[in-house]
Amino acid sequence: MKKILAFTGSNNPNSINGKLVQSIISKYPDQSIEFIDLKRFDVPIYSQEIEQNGIPKPIKKLFQLFTKADAFIIASPEHNGLPSAFLKNTIDWLSRINQKFIDGKPVLLLSTSPGPMGGKTHLQILEKLVLQWGGLFVEQYSLGSFDQNFDKISLVITSQQENIKLEKAMQALINGQPIQKKQNVEVVQDYFNSFQNGNKEQVLNSFHPDCYIVSVKEEERPKEQLHGIYRTKDEAKQFLNNITSLFNTKDFTLKHISSAGDNLVMANGTFSHEVKATGKLFNSAWVQLCIIEDEKIKEYRFYEDSAAFVEAFKQ
Ligand SMILES: Cc1cc2nc3c(=O)[nH]c(=O)nc-3n(C[C@H](O)[C@H](O)[C@H](O)COP(=O)(O)O)c2cc1C
Repeated sequence: MKKILAFTGSNNPNSINGKLVQSIISKYPDQSIEFIDLKRFDVPIYSQEIEQNGIPKPIKKLFQLFTKADAFIIASPEHNGLPSAFLKNTIDWLSRINQKFIDGKPVLLLSTSPGPMGGKTHLQILEKLVLQWGGLFVEQYSLGSFDQNFDKISLVITSQQENIKLEKAMQALINGQPIQKKQNVEVVQDYFNSFQNGNKEQVLNSFHPDCYIVSVKEEERPKEQLHGIYRTKDEAKQFLNNITSLFNTKDFTLKHISSAGDNLVMANGTFSHEVKATGKLFNSAWVQLCIIEDEKIKEYRFYEDSAAFVEAFKQ
């Protein structure tokens, strides 16, 4: 059985990241997960002067523990968008023994915080660093809004959706295999493909449960008005219904689709809709901006020629 070494980057005795790790240890009794408390190693702040007199004994001991482990869980608190100084210091010392101190082993990154992002921002930085430490990054998981999503008495995550995400991440660690994820561009491409194939269910499934849709105008709208704001997947359904009840689509062309950095995907093209009410053609260029989260469209903005829209609806 794989020996998983788990630690947090927190020196807080009541660390919420520590509680998250404890919840995993009790949830996976069949796995060999050893928790190490970095505080007990009492590592000095890195200095070349100390190093010249030899690497401190606690760091050598920690390095030995790293050598014996087969996989790692690192639960890292976020401090100002970065890992804590406490974790960074430990890593700096370990890297002085061997830059690649993780030696090809799988690493699962975790974080939690009272804020809604759960420390996700800094995990994106740590993800890249795992490679530099010689590790195999398998997955990252952040639990946002810790106080609302975690029962501190029974030490369990209370949200079912969050439990599912964490289980997937743990499975990746146990298998030692990164989860194959759709690229952001692929998510949007699949959305268009489902549209072209008339698969409404799949189109709907491209949206995040908590999505935010802006159809041309960023303002509230009566239920059956196409242009305006739609919130959540339920209203995404209304968005699709509004399109199909107003138009027969004669042509929809995707000219260009690309990632625009971070989680943003941009696409543009043209369409020709026949307006059911008037029989006129509504021809327009369009631009679509999507923000992707968890392989779903979280934010969706679609812009078209609104003057041509008005014209096509005139009797
Ligand atoms: C100096 C400092 C900076 C912080 N910066 C962030 C931050 O950037 N993002 C965030 O989600 N929480 C931030 N927090 C809140 C921590 O997430 C919170 O203190 C959490 O309890 C830390 O985890 P721990 O209990 O495991 O140490 C910050 C806290 C401190 C003390």
